[in-house]
Amino acid sequence: MLYEAAYWNPEGLRPLKEEALSKEPKLARYLEGWGRPGDAAVVAVDLSSGRRLGAAWYRLMTSEEPGYGFVNDSTPEVALAIVPDHRGRGMGGALLREIRDVARSRGHGALSLSVEHGNPALGLYERNGFVKLFETEDAWTMKKDLLTDETRPDDQHANP
Ligand SMILES: CC(C)(COP(=O)(O)OP(=O)(O)OC[C@H]1O[C@@H](n2cnc3c(N)ncnc32)[C@H](O)[C@@H]1OP(=O)(O)O)[C@@H](O)C(=O)NCCC(=O)NCCS
Repeated sequence: MLYEAAYWNPEGLRPLKEEALSKEPKLARYLEGWGRPGDAAVVAVDLSSGRRLGAAWYRLMTSEEPGYGFVNDSTPEVALAIVPDHRGRGMGGALLREIRDVARSRGHGALSLSVEHGNPALGLYERNGFVKLFETEDAWTMKKDLLTDETRPDDQHANP
């Protein structure tokens, strides 16, 4: 799912999965040593086959080793992806709201993420209350305040 999130653009270059994660330390940061304090994930599973269809996860990064959507040491950064053949059915939105609830229940005040220019996921994030914080050369860093909920009603009730 990390590979799918990073190489979301079907028209962009897609290196081999193993190479992508081993050659890009900043990307590997989203998973390396998974299970440390502050990490959390939700996974969508097809109950009939057991196939994992997508995941949303977050972790706390540091200013020494930031992620692409780093805001500060106390704001976990979210990553999200759905397998290609199940996109556009509401699962990504459902996972996003689920991981929001996990973050809130664990006392976090906000979540951040990075979305590259041209990625249609931007609309999904905006509908779920993420706002653009700043722009880098090729991406937006977005943040969602968890103390107020600005998720739009039509996305609250998506039922994949
Ligand atoms: C982005 C992603 C997780 C959304 O999950 P999803 O289950 O397809 O999304 P939902 O069905 O809940 O919502 C649909 C929205 O997702 C976004 N989206 C992004 N890529 C999409 C795709 N390939 N197909 C359909 N929707 C996509 C759109 O904003 C769409 O909203 P729209 O109706 O305004 O166009 C999923 O499409 C995906 O895995 N994309 C590739 C990886 C990626 O880009 N991850 C995010 C990195 S920041």
